Amino acid sequence: MANSLHTSTSFIPNRVNYRQNLPALKPGSVSFPSQHHRNLSLDKCNRTVQIVKACSGYNEMEVDISLSLRVNAVKPSKTVAITDQATALAQAGVPVIRLAAGEPDFDTPSVIAEAGINAIREGYTRYTPNAGTMELRSAICHKLKDENGLAYTPDQILVSNGAKQSILQAVLAVCSPGDEVIIPAPFWVSYPEMARLADATPVILPTLISENFLLDPKLLESKLTEKSRLMILCSPSNPTGSVYPKELLEQIAKIVAKHPRLLVLSDEIYEHIIYSPATHTSFASLPGMWERTLTVNGFSKAFAMTGWRLGYLAGPKHFVAACNKIQSQFTSGASSISQKAAVAALGLGYAGGEAVSTMVKAFRERRDFLVKSFGELEDVKMSEPKGAFYLFIDFSTYYGSEAEGFGKIENSESLCRYFLDKAQVALVPGDAFGDDTCIRISYAASLTTLQAAVERIKKALVLLRPAVPV
Ligand SMILES: Cc1ncc(COP(=O)(O)O)c(C=O)c1O
Repeated sequence: MANSLHTSTSFIPNRVNYRQNLPALKPGSVSFPSQHHRNLSLDKCNRTVQIVKACSGYNEMEVDISLSLRVNAVKPSKTVAITDQATALAQAGVPVIRLAAGEPDFDTPSVIAEAGINAIREGYTRYTPNAGTMELRSAICHKLKDENGLAYTPDQILVSNGAKQSILQAVLAVCSPGDEVIIPAPFWVSYPEMARLADATPVILPTLISENFLLDPKLLESKLTEKSRLMILCSPSNPTGSVYPKELLEQIAKIVAKHPRLLVLSDEIYEHIIYSPATHTSFASLPGMWERTLTVNGFSKAFAMTGWRLGYLAGPKHFVAACNKIQSQFTSGASSISQKAAVAALGLGYAGGEAVSTMVKAFRERRDFLVKSFGELEDVKMSEPKGAFYLFIDFSTYYGSEAEGFGKIENSESLCRYFLDKAQVALVPGDAFGDDTCIRISYAASLTTLQAAVERIKKALVLLRPAVPV
């Protein structure tokens, strides 16, 4: 059945206008024009509308397909887009090496998986309390006390479907239109978009590779105003792997303490993936910071549990209750099965015990290999990661160069496309993380895979010619 769509010239209000006396349209039989072919206009109430005529056989109707201003302001996640593109290529038989995803390549440790299986077998398959089971929240309180020196009670913990949800809910709970969210760059891709979803304004504070991508307290001090509502810190960091030393966090805390409106969201999801002698400090453990810090952590990274979707927020009850309210109208409690598995994960011992330390050892070996291999290239700059499983390399000296049959490498995005085309290695452009000079390599892959990837990347770099000056 042929479908066609035209942009209508007629005005209708911001709602669907079904043509009278026509039989109902078959669901799913109409497609809408792409983003590029959309004619937006304003209606009488100053709302953006886009009316299209949709024809499907003998049915015709007008539909306003405009999206909310909020969703239009948000960028889609580039890491997800590139991972999907690489997966599609791999499924089509192209031997792509995928180093774009932020996901451990290990299986969930068997003790944890068994706990999930037992939960199903034992019929533990019903809704849990919105905030998470008392069993899990109590276990989280013990973990935070023993490992982070943080005192929380179960009513100060909210378990969610992944740390991503915990962060978004926290941002929505505390930010109002006009508020500013302070985000050091390079940042995890979702932070600025989450600020925008809350109608707040992201304020990006750049850091330097020569300073290990750590925030300069002086810069922070100069950017704080009464509009500053939330600062988001991530240590160990995605995408740079940098770890904030305790002394630097103390300096930052002193500055934060001067601003009564300013809260801190401390994303500690990579806490256990850290390479000694680096150590992790929870921001809430610093003098005066507990009252204003929302600590986020989760099970995805350290316990290789990305698909179980489980994260949590710890903070003063007032803020946690607000997040709890959002969650109660949004997704309700997290999976009952995953929560049982998470209790088993926390039962593995200090910092995840041997199961986690074995994975961290493997990550460390891979980090060492990549740092050494890329260190052999004169034209790149790096800061050795102290945690997480990413290397953020400055390839900007290659910008402006050209490759036969590809064209000019303009920026991190075109260099990534070039690596995907020529080397069949999927990486993420740094501009997704707020730093266009760099590219992120995820080393959540075996050493053999990484060796092959480095070889291909180096070969592809050799094929680049310096740009001919005009
Ligand atoms: C820095 C950071 N925070 C939070 C998350 C979200 O983790 P999840 O929702 O899987 O728990 C991620 C995942 O990539 C991350 O890298």
